[in-house]
Amino acid sequence: MCGIVGFVGKRGASPVLIEGLSKLEYRGYDSAGVAILDGDKLNVTKCKGRLANLEEKLKESPLVGSVGIGHTRWATHGEPSDLNSHPHTNEDGTISVVHNGIIENYIHIREWLISKGYKFVSETDTEVIPHLVDYYYNGDLIDAVMKAAAKMEGSYAIGVVCSKEPDKVVAVRKDSPLIVGLGKGENFIASDIPAILNHTRDIYLLNDNEFVVLTEQGVKLLTAEGDEIKRDIYHVTWNADAAEKGGFEHFMIKEIHEQPKAIKDTMTSRIMPGKPVTLDDITITKEQIANIDKIYIVACGTAYHAGVVGKYAIEKLARIPVEVDIASEFRYRDPIINERTLMIVVSQSGETADTLAALREAKAHGARVIAVTNVVGSSVSREADDILYTWAGPEIAVASTKAYVTQLIAMYIIALFFAENKNSVNSEEIEKIKAAMLELPEKAEEVLKHKEVLQKFASKTYMHKDMFFLGRGLDYAVAMEGSLKVKEISYIHSEAYAGGELKHGPIALIEKGTVVIALATQLGLFDKMVSNVKEVKTRGANVLGIAYEGHTEIEKTVDAALYIPRTHDILAPVISVIPLQLASYYMAVQKGCDVDKPRNLAKSVTVE
Ligand code: F6R
Repeated sequence: MCGIVGFVGKRGASPVLIEGLSKLEYRGYDSAGVAILDGDKLNVTKCKGRLANLEEKLKESPLVGSVGIGHTRWATHGEPSDLNSHPHTNEDGTISVVHNGIIENYIHIREWLISKGYKFVSETDTEVIPHLVDYYYNGDLIDAVMKAAAKMEGSYAIGVVCSKEPDKVVAVRKDSPLIVGLGKGENFIASDIPAILNHTRDIYLLNDNEFVVLTEQGVKLLTAEGDEIKRDIYHVTWNADAAEKGGFEHFMIKEIHEQPKAIKDTMTSRIMPGKPVTLDDITITKEQIANIDKIYIVACGTAYHAGVVGKYAIEKLARIPVEVDIASEFRYRDPIINERTLMIVVSQSGETADTLAALREAKAHGARVIAVTNVVGSSVSREADDILYTWAGPEIAVASTKAYVTQLIAMYIIALFFAENKNSVNSEEIEKIKAAMLELPEKAEEVLKHKEVLQKFASKTYMHKDMFFLGRGLDYAVAMEGSLKVKEISYIHSEAYAGGELKHGPIALIEKGTVVIALATQLGLFDKMVSNVKEVKTRGANVLGIAYEGHTEIEKTVDAALYIPRTHDILAPVISVIPLQLASYYMAVQKGCDVDKPRNLAKSVTVE
């Protein structure tokens, strides 16, 4: 989704804004722009397409000035075009605005402003903001932005500059991410930390409906009533390098290789042999756990797929019924929620609009909420009752990989924590699972060595139009994730099916040469899965089978086999997803796709 950067300081704003926006490219965008104050002159440059187009324009006609705002736009209202790009300005060009989110009542505001004589040039919802600020402006920018915000419904992170107050940037957030960076003699706003990490590690995390006035001298945080807010500084401990490619061709392949470490970091100090699961940010008591009669795991996309594994793990170990829901459906289906319900929301970014809305829905009905998220201080982490951070480090590639495996680890941790509190599994079994978990980083490292098989597979299949992923039990959950990876980065239509479901329809699509990836890790289901593979082989499919080392009998049925190290069956998804990530990566590379920034996708989906 859109990215925002704002800067006030002594040096030229243009390179700071461009560098910041380049660090937000991962969020997805289709146009970019900056507005920079040169004394009391406000200059705007913006255009459709990549940031490189904007840089080219700025090279031809540089913008001077040390106060400015920048934006990468992911089109929602109005096609990607120069005109619809941000920043948007008022009619006399004295006020400029960048915005992430959706102003839901913009049609009403637009008509009202038109009735007052305002003229619009773009199709965007955002354009109402500079006109609204203009309408309320009476020599005090923050006052005008507050009045404008009071009129707006929807979600927004907004940065505003005004040539009549050329020393400042004013900002506000509601349901859209925005942070403040605190430098020496210079200050920043940004949609995400990597945008400012080369300049400062000290930040303020903003809450909804908080306003910011950024000047060279300092930062003022204000409530909507104008009262000053005291906020603790959050010091970022991770390194800017963590958000760089570090010698890899793409962020995605770098992040795939970071998985062994991410898995380890997520378990550190939580999973220890012979000790109960230790969770710092979870305060739910034994009695409260005993009282839960239903769990909803709610998430979107890849995080939803982690939730499907979570359902298996929690039901098997903690014996509590779990329903997994797609967040955008959950909020509209009138689910049964009460004080005995627990919701687990899973979100890498912690800012996904639908997931956040589901969380609020659950809380409004009295449920307790645990947030599993990767981003410290994100909206879901602040609104949930308990937090389990996945320590994956910044995930820049749009396609989620390391965040997913750490979400799986989080699911196992929660399942074990509940099982220990409920005594639902004997301690030997719990210890067995913990020991197997601690071996996962090494095993993930091992799988990363099997790249050649997958490169070969990718080079034979990347031109195919369709693909199938099959699995049973937990393998089916992983199949769904593999299928999503192939769709989003390789642009190959793909379907994931539970092996037993094939005969009920989809087998009609299998013909000579159809590519099938069949997962057969789950021991109790191995023979059944082999039968399903035979069904597609008989109809001419070209099958890559994935099984545990030693299960060479699969070779009799498939065209190529890839073996993964043996682990506890319940943990297999952490290992078996890695070949699927690699296969989709190599197919995307072979096809020449933009691996890290796939078309039409955004990293953080902050609108509904
Ligand atoms: C796919 C992917 C998306 C996200 C989904 C939820 O690779 O990354 O499907 O998983 O948009 O995002 P978060 O986890 O940030 O809520």
